[in-house]
Parts: sequence; structure tokens; C-alpha cells
Amino acid sequence: MKPTTDEIIKIKTPQLREDILDVLKLRFSPRVFLEEKINDEDIKKFFEAARISPSSSNRQPWFFYFAKNESGNYMKIINSLSPDNSWAKNAPLLIVGCFIGEDEKGPNKYAQYDLGQSVMSIVIQVNSIGYYCRQMGGFDKSKMAVNLNIMPPIFPWVVIAVGKIGDYQKADPALIEKDNRVRIRKADVAKEI
Ligand SMILES: Cc1cc2nc3c(=O)[nH]c(=O)nc-3n(C[C@H](O)[C@H](O)[C@H](O)COP(=O)(O)O)c2cc1C
Repeated sequence: MKPTTDEIIKIKTPQLREDILDVLKLRFSPRVFLEEKINDEDIKKFFEAARISPSSSNRQPWFFYFAKNESGNYMKIINSLSPDNSWAKNAPLLIVGCFIGEDEKGPNKYAQYDLGQSVMSIVIQVNSIGYYCRQMGGFDKSKMAVNLNIMPPIFPWVVIAVGKIGDYQKADPALIEKDNRVRIRKADVAKEI
């Protein structure tokens, strides 16, 4: 029998040892999304969150291209994904996160790190207003650059699928199999020294 979406959310909710922010507690990365559109006001908030995120020497080495599911560029993004990321075609919004490897100050060795921080800002903003997202590194980066006409020193590095969580009662069994699992985490990530 297929699980309900609430059952998926329950199995994904982590057993925490400490009380942390609700948005971090509730975040997880589903593969099943509703096709329902995201309104433009919410989309603007996602990128505002990215815009004010921290970066080494304030170089802000990130840029985001986004496409809604009715656009031609959306299909160009989908066509660059690895076959096992084909679930992303249900998401109403795809964001291509790019790092800027070089600017007027020269090469930027913190570019990918800082892109990651700005992506996490997007993720937190997305989840704090009721959407979910799943990031993907599984795509052909050269093909994406060609498909979207992205030139050095800007490099596509991650794709983020965004939308409301979907109905698992209607989902593909192969996706349910992947998502209906407890999240595994390392026991410890820090020690006092
Ligand atoms: C940089 C990055 C690349 C990822 N690439 C993929 C991917 O190609 N396909 C996919 O289904 N999930 C991908 N993920 C999602 C991770 O598998 C997921 O975040 C991880 O399993 C932890 O699960 P959680 O986000 O639900 O806590 C990626 C996540 C990150 C941060």
C-alpha cells in the first residue's frame, strides 16, 4: 500500500537530540512535488535570501537562473539532468545555481563554498514558507552551460527543484521506495578541542 504524504513527512522527521530551529527540523529533500505554480512574490523571496548571504571578501560569487515548468528553458534544464534525476520534471520551479570562478580580484577559491551558503539561504527561505526543495549535482555541467548559454567565469554547479510536496498516494512506486526511508546521519560531527 502506498504511504500518504503525511506518513512520508513523519518518517523523514529527524529524531533530534537537541531543540533546533523548526525550519531546520522540518526540512528534508523529497523527490515528489505538486505541479502547482509558485507565485512570483515567493520566488523573489528565495533570491533575496541568496542575495544577502555571506561570502568571502563579500565577493558574492553566485548567480541563479530559474525556469518555471511551462517554459522552454525548463525543458533545457531537464534535458541536462542525469536519468536518475528525472523525478525533477514534476517540480514547478527549477533553479540552476552557478558559481563565479573569477572576478576583478582574480580567481576565487571560495566560490563554490559561497555558492553553497547562498543555496542554503534559499533552502531555508523555501522551507520557511511551506515549500520543499531537493538539490541535484547529478547533471551534465557542460551540456547545461551550452543549453542555457552560460559562459565562463560562470559555471553551473547545482540544480534545485522547488515546489510544494507532492501526493505520495499518486507517486511512482520507484520514487516512493527511495523516499519512504528514515534519514541516516553520522552520530557526531564535532568535538571540543
Ligand atoms: C550538492 C548536492 C548534490 C545533490 N545531488 C543530488 C542528486 O543529483 N540527486 C538527488 O536525488 N539528490 C541529490 N542531493 C540530495 C541529497 O541526496 C540529500 O540532501 C541527502 O540525501 C540528505 O537528505 P535530506 O536533504 O532529505 O536531509 C544532493 C544534495 C546536495 C547538497
